Amino acid sequence: MPITLKSAEDIEGLRVAGRLASEVLDMLTEHVKPGVSTEQLDKLAHDHIVHVQGGIPAPLNYAPPGYIPYPKSICTSINHQVCHGIPNDRPLKNGDIVNIDVTVIKDGWHGDTSRMFIVGEGSIAATRLCSLTYEAMWKGIAKVKPGARLGDIGHAIQTFAENQGFSIVREFCGHGIGRKFHEEPQVLHYGRPGTLEELVPGMVFTIEPMINAGRREIRELGDGWTIVTKDRSLSAQWEHTVVVTETGYEVMTLSAGSPPPPAFIG
Ligand code: MF3
Ligand code: CO
Ligand code: CO
Repeated sequence: MPITLKSAEDIEGLRVAGRLASEVLDMLTEHVKPGVSTEQLDKLAHDHIVHVQGGIPAPLNYAPPGYIPYPKSICTSINHQVCHGIPNDRPLKNGDIVNIDVTVIKDGWHGDTSRMFIVGEGSIAATRLCSLTYEAMWKGIAKVKPGARLGDIGHAIQTFAENQGFSIVREFCGHGIGRKFHEEPQVLHYGRPGTLEELVPGMVFTIEPMINAGRREIRELGDGWTIVTKDRSLSAQWEHTVVVTETGYEVMTLSAGSPPPPAFIG
């Protein structure tokens, strides 16, 4: 399947879905605190998407080839969990870091975004990992414009993260997105400048680096979904959905509660 280019009308649909996904994170923010379980967050998100937004939580029953259907409406990945953590009844505790990944389908279009949350007071190391991973995502976003290549994005993220002594997870990547959750192209978070697909206006994809405080190796838990660091080091991830415009990029997954872009973004 080739990369599908989105029309102005398609992009308006993606903009709505993207904003709704981000607004789910806004809504959840005040609930992310010690004692609250990720299952409670999942229920809040599910009900908000379905009953307030009139949308569909894309993860629920999502079953790509080789996977069992995903059982919940959001992904919640805590501490050494890298991605695809399944909400459960364990309460969050002070100092946990948690990635919440939300994908909303609205009028057939997908919006996919995730943020890191620090539960109560985080350690200096955990706080630094979360904020540098946020900057790494934006280093990648800043490369997006017509004529740039996917390798430019990966290289910007990789060099920034590795210069801080962190490692980049290789097995999972960003992805094209539209009427399907995961489309071409794959957006690697490492690579060489000037390589891979050239960006053209109308391409829509996610940038979602997973960055480990320790080594980059991962493994999958027996639940068939949850990915953890092999060395049990902390892992962080942020995700935005972006569209390539005539002059650069537009981030589709912004809302009133989105953290501001880092200072290096003009
Ligand atoms: N939202 C994830 C991504 O960014 C995919 C989660 S698949 C699920 O691509 F089934 F675990 F939800
Ligand atoms: Co994604
Ligand atoms: Co996601």
